[in-house]
Amino acid sequence: MDVPRLRAVTPGCTGTAYFDNAGAALPTERVTQTVIDHLLLERRVGGYAAADQAEARLEEVYSSAARLLNARPDEIALVENATRAWDMAFYAVQFRPGERILTSRSEYPSNGLAFLQAKKRYGVEVEPIPDDEHGQVCLDSLARMLDRGGVRLVAVNHVPTYDGVVHPAAAIGELANRAGALFLLDACQSVGQIPLDVRRIGCHLLSASGRKYLRGPRGTGFLYVSREVVAGLEPPLLDLRAATWTGHDEYRIRPDARRFETWERNVAGVLGLGAAIDGALDLGLEPIRQRVGRLADRLRGGLGAIDGVVVQDRGAVRSGIVTFTRRGRSAQQLVDGLRAAGVTAAVSFPSRARFDTRPAKPPEVVRASVHYYNTEAELDRLLDAVGEL
Ligand SMILES: Cc1ncc(COP(=O)(O)O)c(C=O)c1O
Repeated sequence: MDVPRLRAVTPGCTGTAYFDNAGAALPTERVTQTVIDHLLLERRVGGYAAADQAEARLEEVYSSAARLLNARPDEIALVENATRAWDMAFYAVQFRPGERILTSRSEYPSNGLAFLQAKKRYGVEVEPIPDDEHGQVCLDSLARMLDRGGVRLVAVNHVPTYDGVVHPAAAIGELANRAGALFLLDACQSVGQIPLDVRRIGCHLLSASGRKYLRGPRGTGFLYVSREVVAGLEPPLLDLRAATWTGHDEYRIRPDARRFETWERNVAGVLGLGAAIDGALDLGLEPIRQRVGRLADRLRGGLGAIDGVVVQDRGAVRSGIVTFTRRGRSAQQLVDGLRAAGVTAAVSFPSRARFDTRPAKPPEVVRASVHYYNTEAELDRLLDAVGEL
């Protein structure tokens, strides 16, 4: 059976919002075609032979991810998703009772659950860093918290799912390094929309998703592990990829970041991730950042001009994640209405509400993230749809 090559694709990714522009040639086309080509090769020659044929290209994915982050290829692990990348890093830290973990108030809820488990398991303290007046991690507070000593890990998400903020990663990295703490940056929402340079940021660990701003396939993610710390981080799980069984009761763990990988993986997905990273690198991360920023500002301006709509984003520096509420409509009603108009958006719940003990919780919002390939006309469609709801 012949499978036709794709001429046009709709975005196959979720998590950040996208517009229904079926028929338009989107940047995901190269990604989708790469995945399909490998699946067809697997069908023809079988999974093992197909992986052998793809070996050189698989290696290039490490180089591409390293180039994206200004890292070295041996500092990259390719894993199933951003959550698993983050987990592998976090659960590799052998905490001692009484050690402290500092995190942002806007931390991703899965990370929050892992902190709670570590609290139960090791008796660590988990302390949210106060926000500054813009909703970003307050650097003065962080400095004071670090000065009290005992901080083993600073774990912060760069761009939270909710409310558009971009946390000052490099400044956080500088403070964490000065205090001798490990710095784990969750870059799930920033990778692909903001230039990331792990040397400048000073993070020891960075987790990333393929499926969001990179527009890669679902089920792909990667982890950066600095050479400086990799030897001291034992993976929470070992398999034949991560380690070699060297004797009757001996094994040796790989020396590089691939100790955090699994042997079995979705080769087509990994190749698709490589295509997505190469696509972003070809376009350039700085031009992407600028275009996403312009589109997001335009959308915020348009939303703010609609009666009853409140843009909920915070941050002196903002991302492409645009969040809003409308008087008299729940976030779900707005999302349903937008979907009926062919615009995909999501309901977002602020994780800072869980760290916030004040009675006035931030509301549920609509999240309508923009990507560099969105057009001004698409933003107008969203604005019209919100206006008509
Ligand atoms: C900030 C942040 N971190 C981590 C994740 C987890 O990503 P994934 O579901 O792709 O593993 C998300 C997902 O929305 C996120 O927004």
